[in-house]
Order: sequence, then C-alpha cells, then structure tokens
Amino acid sequence: MKILIVCLGNICRSPLTEGILKSKLSENFFVDSVGTISMHEGETPDKRAVQTAANHGIDISKQKSRPIRISDLDYFDKIYCMDLKNYEDVISMTQSEEQRQKVRLFLEEAGNHQNIEVPDPYWGEMSDFENVFQLLDNACNKISHQLQQQAISNKI
Ligand code: 4NP
Repeated sequence: MKILIVCLGNICRSPLTEGILKSKLSENFFVDSVGTISMHEGETPDKRAVQTAANHGIDISKQKSRPIRISDLDYFDKIYCMDLKNYEDVISMTQSEEQRQKVRLFLEEAGNHQNIEVPDPYWGEMSDFENVFQLLDNACNKISHQLQQQAISNKI
C-alpha cells in the first residue's frame, strides 16, 4: 500500500509524519510526503523538525521536499492532508471520484474530531515542534493500525 502525506511546504509537518509513520509500518508500505507549494523544493526538512524527530530516535534528515504532482493522485492509495487548506488544494487537483476518495484529513481519519488540523509549527518554537510531534505520534499509532488492518483485508 502506498501512502502520501501532504502539508504546505513539505519541510515541517509532512516530513515528521512520514518519518513517524514509517517507523510504525513494515516495508510492505511505501510512505512519501509532499508539499502543495514548490517553494522549498529540494530542501531537507527544517532543522527544528529534524532535531525533534532525532530526539525520538527517528532520522528525517535525508528527506527532500517536493511539490505534489497530478500523477501522485493515481499512484498513491491514501493521501493524508495535514490541514484543511492542504485538503482543499489537493481536492481541487483531483479529476475523478476515485481520486477524491483517497484524500483525507489525517487527524480526522485518526479519530480526532475536535482537533482536525495539525497546527503549523513553522513560525513557532521548539516546544511547538515537540507538541506537533506528540499529536502526530498519537495519530500515527491509530493510522498505522488501520492501514495494517486494511492491508490484511484487501489480501483476503
Ligand atoms: P509545513 O510548514 O507546511 O509544515 O512544511 C511550513 C513550511 C514553510 C512555510 C510555511 C509552513 N513557508 O511559508 O515557507
């Protein structure tokens, strides 16, 4: 199963989510992340995101930012968005109901109905990155469980 994580710049929230989710899933899952803007294309994640992940034993230092492509909408099985603007931007790129069905708000999918957007820590401090890490880590526990269940039932 192929999983895509989407945020704005692909240097803070989605690289963290990619790293955390990979750490919880087997290699049968392919996890990648992208941004809705190309401003940071080719850059490694924000130093604060790299440090926060490293504090939890996860290496995201070799990831490279890239913008989302139309072909991603067919290639990936699940497309998880960090906030509502990302969700709307991705939905506006879709050309079929099949593509639209793949696009979800990450926290909503994880069962967080009050807090459905991952706050952007880019303008914040290290403590904001740590808070976002905790939010994502909890959500990744739920999402990785769901994905493993779906992968099993799809094979039957
Ligand atoms: P991200 O954070 O979407 O979580 O990667 C941001 C990265 C860059 C900018 C904003 C948010 N920016 O304005 O450059």
